Amino acid sequence: MTHQYPALTAEQKKELSDIALRIVAPGKGILAADESVGSMAKRLNQIGVENTEENRRLYRQILFSADSRVKKCIGGVIFFHETMYQKADDGTPFVQMIKDKGIVVGIKVDKGVVPLAGTDGETTTQGLDGLSERCAQYKKDGADFAKWRCVLKISDNTPSALAIMENANVLARYASICQQNGIVPIVEPEILPDGDHDLKRCQYVTEKVLAAVYKALSDHHVYLEGTLLKPNMVTPGHSCPTKYSPEEIAMATVTALRRTVPPAVPGVTFLSGGQSEEEASINLNAINTCPLMRPWALTFSYGRALQASALSAWRGQRDNATAATEEFVKRAEVNGLAALGKYEGSGDDSGAAGQSLYVANHAY
Ligand code: 13P
Repeated sequence: MTHQYPALTAEQKKELSDIALRIVAPGKGILAADESVGSMAKRLNQIGVENTEENRRLYRQILFSADSRVKKCIGGVIFFHETMYQKADDGTPFVQMIKDKGIVVGIKVDKGVVPLAGTDGETTTQGLDGLSERCAQYKKDGADFAKWRCVLKISDNTPSALAIMENANVLARYASICQQNGIVPIVEPEILPDGDHDLKRCQYVTEKVLAAVYKALSDHHVYLEGTLLKPNMVTPGHSCPTKYSPEEIAMATVTALRRTVPPAVPGVTFLSGGQSEEEASINLNAINTCPLMRPWALTFSYGRALQASALSAWRGQRDNATAATEEFVKRAEVNGLAALGKYEGSGDDSGAAGQSLYVANHAY
């Protein structure tokens, strides 16, 4: 059982580790702009915009046309398949626009969640069929990293041992296939914030889930230096009556990571999980000032918490595009500071940035 067959050459390992380190260089994080067509429908409906291919293109253009200020705070952008092949108004492919800023292009490769029969509403994530071929094609088309999202739920009966094991294993299979194709896998076992559980329960579940994920990655011979982890922060459930400070959230989060994530992993890129823009920035900052040893880069891979203000500034109007891009740049810069533990907070969470972005049973 202990015999080792080489999975990757030294050159392949170096390429993967270089990509991962570029994405999480100090002060940099990830823009998750990989919402599926269905998730975009929800985002665009909120601002009264029809969910057409052209409107999705116009919206992504707002984010991708941000100027060189984002070079220092955005290390990677995650695309959805459709967006990989779209172009800006002037004909420049979106992939090119991102690469020209020195930002690494990523691609969502999972095909969404499906029920795990015999569980209390739990899921696994599909998309392994043909994954190697898709990764090879995306690599040719300019992507150097990928994302695969698994979802776990906290309730009295969940997550079950089956859901923990199955999701860890599918993440490891995905990660192994990506690495064989020169793609850095972002491993995302998201524990949803739905429920009234307290901070301790979320920490306990996060530790069990992450421990299972790293056991599976080891079993599948995944090269950890060439991966990134995308976890939830450890937070109380959305309906938990007890409130916790950013320092308590940071301590619970870093403690859970220290107990389960090997130091060989170069970076942990948190999802925002329905926190408001400002909350996600303040909590990330607290994580980066937490008085515990932190051997990994701790940064952001936010979807909602980087886009909410931009989306509401745009409202589907061409005349609002520049203002919307500015809103995105503002959040990117704030989170870049938070990734360095240098964000002081806006002191005002009454505006759009202070609004909860929670969606029950969130799909992506
Ligand atoms: P949120 O930051 O909106 O939670 O989403 C990030 C993401 O990519 C989830 O898969």
